[in-house]
Parts: sequence; C-alpha cells; structure tokens
Amino acid sequence: MYILGIESSCDETAVGILRADPDGRLSPCANRINSQVPVHRLYGGVVPEIASRAHIESISALATDALSEAGISPSEVGLVAVTSHPGLIGALLVGVNFAKAFSFAHDIPLVSVNHMKAHVAAAWVESTEAPAPEAPPFLALVVSGGHTSLYHAATWCDYEEIGATRDDAIGESFDKVGRLLGLPYPAGAAFDRLAAEGFAALCPSDPTLNGYAASPAFRRGELHLPSPALHDGTADFSFSGLKTASVNLIHHHRQKNEPFSPAEFAAAFTYEAVEAVCRQTELALDRFPGCPLVAAGGVSANSHLRQALRRLCKKRGISLSLPPLSLCGDNGLMVCAQGYREYLAGHLADVSLNASAADSI
Ligand code: KG4
Ligand code: ZN
Repeated sequence: MYILGIESSCDETAVGILRADPDGRLSPCANRINSQVPVHRLYGGVVPEIASRAHIESISALATDALSEAGISPSEVGLVAVTSHPGLIGALLVGVNFAKAFSFAHDIPLVSVNHMKAHVAAAWVESTEAPAPEAPPFLALVVSGGHTSLYHAATWCDYEEIGATRDDAIGESFDKVGRLLGLPYPAGAAFDRLAAEGFAALCPSDPTLNGYAASPAFRRGELHLPSPALHDGTADFSFSGLKTASVNLIHHHRQKNEPFSPAEFAAAFTYEAVEAVCRQTELALDRFPGCPLVAAGGVSANSHLRQALRRLCKKRGISLSLPPLSLCGDNGLMVCAQGYREYLAGHLADVSLNASAADSI
C-alpha cells in the first residue's frame, strides 16, 4: 500500500510517500519538503499568518512532485495521512483541508495523525542506531521546537505522558538563546556546532559533555546555569529559568565589557539542556525498566544529545532508536508511518476532520 503523508503544522510544508508491504516493511518513495525558514528568518521566528499562506502556495505542487518522484498516480495511493494536531491552527488547516480534498476526490481512506507520534514513528522509517522496536511497549522522547516530552507507548497509538515541559520547549530555548548569540533562526544546528567548538576549548582532551563535567572550567562554575530538570520527583522540565539565566549572563558580560566566549557559553548551555533530558529520561526508565527508547523531533538531531543518549542506553542495557538527521525535523514520511499504524488500528477519519492547536496526545 502507498501512503501519502501531509505535514503543515509549523514552518515546513512536507509531503511524503511511503510504501508499506504486507510483511510490515516500510520503504520511503518520496520525501518532499518546502522549508519556509528563509521567509521567517527575517523576523527571527515563525510568523503564523505568513506560514499559513506559504503552505497554501506550495502544498499542491509538492504533492504532485512527490507522486511523480514515487512514480505513482493518485489512484494508486491507498491511504492519506495528515497531521491534524497540535501546531499552528492556520498552518494545520491547510494540510488538513488538502488531505480531505485529496481523499474525497480520489475516494481514498483518510487518517488523522498527532504530530508528536509522527515524530516518533520516523524511527520506523529509518533508525541510525538499533532498529525501532518490533512491538510496543516503548518509551518515546520528543524534543522539538514545541515539545520536550516523555511518553510511554503501550500500543502503537496509545501514548501516556510521563513528563513534559511546563513552559518553554528545548528547541525554542536553543532558538531564543541562539538569537542572542547572533545565530540566525532556527539556531539549533549552528548552536550544536558552536557548542562543539566550546567543548574543544574548555576540555580539549575530552571535548564531550562528560569531559566538560570533569573539567576545571565546570568546577569553577564561571558558566554556571540552572538545570531545566525539575527536582520534584516528576519527569517534567522548565526551560524558562535556563533561558532567563542565559539572557542575564550574556547581558551582564556585555554591559561590563568582560571577555565572553559564545562558543564556551553554548557548550555550558548545551550541557545543562542535555543533562536535564538524560536525567528525566532516566526517571522514566526507572518507572518502566528495560523499555526500549525511541528519541525523535528536531532537537534529536543535536550531536551532543545523540551521544549522551547512546551512552545512557548503553549504561542501562536498553535499545535506542534514533531517526537519521534527515527525518528528525518535520517531514511527510513520519506522518505516513504513524498514519499506517492508525489505519491498522481502524482509526479512520472523514471529511468532518478538523485541525486543532490543542496539545493533547
Ligand atoms: O521537530 P521540528 O522540526 O519542529 C517542531 O515540531 O518544533 O524542530 C525544530 C527545532 C528548532 O527549534 C531547531 O532549532 C531545533 O529543532 N534543532 C536543533 C538541531 N537541529 C534542529 N536543536 C539543537 N541541535 C540541533 N542540531
Ligand atoms: Zn515537529
């Protein structure tokens, strides 16, 4: 069966085509993404109204291109899957209405997909580490521009939230603090490289998070920042304190004209962000011992986080699945993959499907 997956929840218009074979094998046939980053970069972040208009302008051509890349006609599509929640409501509505029209016009079943579950499902399209678990249960870590969440998946479609951010998301904090360091939106990938430079300067013999934790610089506490992991027994996060402390520290150095290394600061910030994610992931693993871990979302492309998760899973003797960098950010293939699960579970949608900004799982 060919699945057409549509994603328009934020600033990427994406259409994927995935072939699902009867033995369960998933093969990507097309992965078209129109990134709006150059447009939003002018404003330092996503402008929702501009995002909706840009989705409208590109979605139709993107679907045509995806079909021709896959070498199939619309009548050969067996399932239409679309992200319906959560996200920017105007942006989501473009994808949902396109999917409904496509499904209605070609008489193809339609399924609605949750954006976080779709991110996680990317690991079943491809994983750079262990193959994704053959069956639930598993733990899912979603780290993105809008989420920092841990879930326990009892089935392919039923997720229970184990921990989440109570304010800002991890990706949002990389983007906002990165902006202060002069990095263009979205700052994540450049922040990652800057932090690597910082680790190389602060702990040259072991330029990693571990090396930094053991370094004289860390012990001196010059770049001390608060942890975004809540210490109240929950697996929740609060990134707003880390963000505010970072803003204050950067302004303090600038106002006093003191020497300040953006690279070393990026390393210290990355250390706290990654340590917090690992700490809360360990709490979730304590609750569900032995559960395999699947990590996903735009921030799961972060090289320091990937390394830390590899180490954590090795220490706990559990399997880790991570999508390749090309499938960490928003894409249509991840929507296809989760859409297929929803279809197999009988969760069909129809033309009454609506988009929702609500952050429910
Ligand atoms: O999953 P995604 O594409 O969109 C949302 O669902 O939010 O995630 C986008 C986020 C942005 O905040 C971006 O800066 C961040 O992922 N990101 C990274 C890296 N690559 C992308 N953050 C840290 N390190 C990276 N290498
Ligand atoms: Zn996303």
